[in-house]
Amino acid sequence: MTVSEVQNEILKLKKEKDICILAHSYQAREIVEIADFTGDSFQLSVMAKNATQKNYIMCGVRFMAETVKILSPQKTVFLANEIAGCPMAEQMDKELIEAVKEKYPDYTVVAYINTTADLKTVCDVCVTSSSAVKIVEKIENDNILFIPDCNLGDYVAEKVPQKNIKLLQGGCPIHAAVSMEDVKKAKNMHPNAKLLVHPECVPSVVKLADFVGSTSAIMDYAMKSQDKEFIIGTEMSIAEHLQYMCPDKKFYSVSKKLLCPNMKTTTLIDVLNCIKGDGGEEIILSEDTIKKARICIDKMIELG
Ligand code: 13P
Ligand code: SF4
Repeated sequence: MTVSEVQNEILKLKKEKDICILAHSYQAREIVEIADFTGDSFQLSVMAKNATQKNYIMCGVRFMAETVKILSPQKTVFLANEIAGCPMAEQMDKELIEAVKEKYPDYTVVAYINTTADLKTVCDVCVTSSSAVKIVEKIENDNILFIPDCNLGDYVAEKVPQKNIKLLQGGCPIHAAVSMEDVKKAKNMHPNAKLLVHPECVPSVVKLADFVGSTSAIMDYAMKSQDKEFIIGTEMSIAEHLQYMCPDKKFYSVSKKLLCPNMKTTTLIDVLNCIKGDGGEEIILSEDTIKKARICIDKMIELG
């Protein structure tokens, strides 16, 4: 079968079976092409909440599928490839955060959406990379415990200096591997290019950026900009998608290290198998987990 034959089969089956396919922007192009919605982690969960299909397939990582299930418990949600996890989401567990909360009882616990459903049950407010600054600004309490990404937390602390933000040591190993050296090399090779980075990168890299934002914010910025060349400091799919969307501009990935093996675990064939009922994993969460985890996600939607 060719790629387009597989895509056509998926398009036919998803209509017949009332399935909505969600693809994070880090997915490969052939998956993005058959998705009903593509976006950053925040956009995907809101789109799924508002969509009318009964069944959902998440082409992304586990915490994204869990977020869809928490927001729409009556819907059937599948993760297209069951081994697609996010290492950052699994760095901290509920027991660790409960112990930290005992030490800092007057802190509001702000969790990046890249956390497990179980951990969300003990957090106060959720944020995504696109909403973190705005939400932390709006929280009444000045004492914030920001988990798990200390790089995103550091970026928020810079932008909201009036808050007392406590960080724990965690983050995305893929973004954190980008060094100032990588940036300098890319800038030397492309001196006229603007540098757009995700706030999961280390603070020394974020400080060099012309623009800092979520995956969708980076794409939006590049598409609307009058500039013609861009160095992209997030997963390399973004540079590739942008190149297709804006053929008159040039996009360079800041480093070849910026490839998320977890996001790239999902293939078009996985999507086909999942749609046929022969692969993927249905996301099952207890009523109690959904009820408790939803509190901090609803707060995120309210403040974001
Ligand atoms: P976004 O919130 O920008 O989609 O980021 C998710 C992610 O996993 C980035 O590494
Ligand atoms: Fe997780 Fe990093 Fe991959 Fe995003 S890029 S899914 S944070 S490992």
